Amino acid sequence: MGAFGGWGKAKLASIFSNAGGLGIIAALNFPKFEDFKKDLQTMKQMTDKPFGVNLSLPHSGFEESAKKTRTKEDYLKYVEIALKEGIKIFTTSGYKASFLGDRIHEAGGLWFHKCVLIKHAISTENEGADGITLVGLEGTGFKNPLTNTTLVNITMAKKLLKIPIIAAGGIGDARGFLGALAMGADAVCFGTAIMVTKECPVSEKAKTKWLNLDIFDNKFHEKIFHYNVKSFMSPSTAIAHQKKMLPLKTFIEEIMNGAENILSSWGFTANEFNSITK
Ligand SMILES: Cc1cc2nc3c(=O)[nH]c(=O)nc-3n(C[C@H](O)[C@H](O)[C@H](O)COP(=O)(O)O)c2cc1C
Repeated sequence: MGAFGGWGKAKLASIFSNAGGLGIIAALNFPKFEDFKKDLQTMKQMTDKPFGVNLSLPHSGFEESAKKTRTKEDYLKYVEIALKEGIKIFTTSGYKASFLGDRIHEAGGLWFHKCVLIKHAISTENEGADGITLVGLEGTGFKNPLTNTTLVNITMAKKLLKIPIIAAGGIGDARGFLGALAMGADAVCFGTAIMVTKECPVSEKAKTKWLNLDIFDNKFHEKIFHYNVKSFMSPSTAIAHQKKMLPLKTFIEEIMNGAENILSSWGFTANEFNSITK
């Protein structure tokens, strides 16, 4: 599960974890530390499956923007609260996060960083990250004018990185999922596709609007493929694969079953892979 500003809370993340994915609670959704702690406790009541916590750092450089919002100490405090609640999986995104990674490792946790450029993935690996989520040009959220497509990012990352890779960016169906694995990813991250699932607490009106988007429209193309910070909330090309508001569990099952059907059509036998739905 991607990090979601606004919606990445126990309510949605627990459904994702219970459906077989890795639910992510985005710490910055809780301006008050106490509320963050409470949500982690709620999450533990709602699922006994693994989940993680995201810390999205300011993209434009920590020192400048964090002064106005959150300091490095604030970020460390979120980590401390999560560690105290027994959280062992952390994702970071945005700017350099090794000061958090170091603390997470010291406490025996796992640190995954999300970036959009291979050069940042390499430097994060050198700083000790346990895995990288690499977002391609097809994806939504923060990008860089030099962001490459998911195809280029993942196939190159497989050649250049030693640590596990999570592919993100435009993935919304079984072929995209399987394609990412074939390119070298160890897992995929869903963002846009989850936003239109039944349980996502976005309004039905917004979901319907997203489901009716034409990704081949010029305006859509302009927003997704040309870097612009204002595009942050635009759905990615993954929206084209969503036809209706599915329950989150059904969404994940359809991806897994679809992937297995494709593998079967390629001649793999069912006992060569494990179905989560069997
Ligand atoms: C509504 C929304 C809010 C998001 N908020 C964040 C965020 O706070 N931090 C972050 O690192 N990424 C955020 N993202 C990006 C996702 O975590 C993920 O990297 C991206 O959506 C993957 O691409 P996809 O949308 O093509 O699946 C957000 C995405 C969406 C759709």
